[in-house]
Amino acid sequence: MNNNALSQPERSKRDFLKILFSGGLIALVGSVLYPIFAYLKPPKQSEVEVSSVKVGKLKDIENESGQIIKFGSKPVILIRTTQGDLRAFSATCTHLDCTVQYRKDMGMIWCACHNGKYDLTGRNVSGPPPRPLTEFRVVVQGEDVFVSKTS
Ligand code: FES
Repeated sequence: MNNNALSQPERSKRDFLKILFSGGLIALVGSVLYPIFAYLKPPKQSEVEVSSVKVGKLKDIENESGQIIKFGSKPVILIRTTQGDLRAFSATCTHLDCTVQYRKDMGMIWCACHNGKYDLTGRNVSGPPPRPLTEFRVVVQGEDVFVSKTS
């Protein structure tokens, strides 16, 4: 029997059953696959809170230098000035989050993305950065240098 031979009420009843069956099939497949994908997806892990990082030995950090260190998952720039002072700031630009670098030739902290400039106190002095860099504390214990959060 072909569909053309069915009367209008029979055809609509058949279409309704097809839709109902298709929906049930989709729900069944979803109810089987969802727990499998939920099991395979790795759980979210909370970030470990870091409060202090040992950077290295004081004798290994040259005057007029800057280096990026990892502070947990975030970059921090450690600078040793011409006078030998140690300073540390968040190395994430306050404009659009590029990583900044120390420019010995400029005597500044520089962001290559949009030519943003910060002085050696972390203050934004030129370019698009809207705020200063967050300052970190630098502590020297014996020969070891540590960087920690200020608060
Ligand atoms: S991201 Fe640093 S100046 Fe734009």
